[in-house]
Amino acid sequence: MSNRHEQESITSRAIAASVLETLRDGHWRAYNGPKSEQLTGWLQSATGLQHIRLCSSGTIAVELALRALHLKSTDEVILSGYDFPGNFRAVEDAGGKIVLCDPAPECGWVLTPERLEQSYAPEFRAVVVSHLHGQLAPMASILDWANSRNVVVIEDACQAQGAMVDGKQAGAWGHLSTYSFGGSKLVSAGRGGAVLTNDSLYAQRMRVYCERGNDAFAMSEIQSALVLPQCERLADDHAMRLQSASQLYSALAKYRWLQCVPLPQQDSPAFYKFGILVAAEQMDSDRRDSMVTRLAKLGIEAGAGFMGFANRSSKRYRANHSLEVSKRLASNTLLIHHSHLLDPATGANSIDQVANAFEQLETELSL
Ligand SMILES: Cc1ncc(COP(=O)(O)O)c(C=O)c1O
Repeated sequence: MSNRHEQESITSRAIAASVLETLRDGHWRAYNGPKSEQLTGWLQSATGLQHIRLCSSGTIAVELALRALHLKSTDEVILSGYDFPGNFRAVEDAGGKIVLCDPAPECGWVLTPERLEQSYAPEFRAVVVSHLHGQLAPMASILDWANSRNVVVIEDACQAQGAMVDGKQAGAWGHLSTYSFGGSKLVSAGRGGAVLTNDSLYAQRMRVYCERGNDAFAMSEIQSALVLPQCERLADDHAMRLQSASQLYSALAKYRWLQCVPLPQQDSPAFYKFGILVAAEQMDSDRRDSMVTRLAKLGIEAGAGFMGFANRSSKRYRANHSLEVSKRLASNTLLIHHSHLLDPATGANSIDQVANAFEQLETELSL
């Protein structure tokens, strides 16, 4: 058995044991319990943040973070024109006005302080900054900008738990930050999330908002039991995924119709999905989807990126530029799922298989 495979079985056994403990000690049917306390403690020590609110999903985590601000109807919240769809709705539901901002064209999928400054208006109250598709936002410079403009940063680290940005955990930078433990995420209980902050007032406001006789947006004790053992192995898994991502980056570099955003040199990213951009001239509305379909037939778990917000009704947002970058990201992003970077079943990566599939794609689609 390979070391990796052994490690995987150990983790699966640890997850099973953790859940069994919760079943045996009866806490599975309580509102609170020791596993949730342990997870809270684990996140506190990983991030150095004081207030951790476990909650039902990453989507709700972003909304709770926004609700902690007690937005006024004139307050504007900046979102990237290319982001997780729920973040748009979260701003609307929390009562803020949406301002869309393009990522910088050379920077892939994340916001930069230069772009934010270009969009600046005195009504700005907060910005949601998401780490996406293996790429990390430049948090130190975004925080500098935000503090100089008195803007609150909500760091959406739902795709990037355990990543390191300039020596500090993703999720430890924002005035408020969010994690997801949902779906196929790198740490998953099927559902779940967390909001993190050092600010007691924000923590208090979230507590009051959630309290309806009990916590209305809670994560369960069994979910915490599932998540805890996965947190322990995150750093090792990220290191292996980064190795696979570097191989994939090199294997795909020869295709002129593809652009992989350069891997960060100093940071330690988290590849929930490996993002690739298909060159604009190769794209029409159906082309990327036919690529995804073809890749699936070749056994590759691939998908399209987010749809982005630039095509939503302009009554729902304001933007002071044309959002061309966001539109291009929405139509040209192709994602390779993290199972190819590190297969939990085999403990191996399948980079050669992905590279061969792209070779075939080039021939078949005459790219
Ligand atoms: C950037 C980002 N934010 C928030 C979420 C929402 O997380 P959840 O699926 O747990 O609601 C996701 C989910 O994919 C995401 O990618």
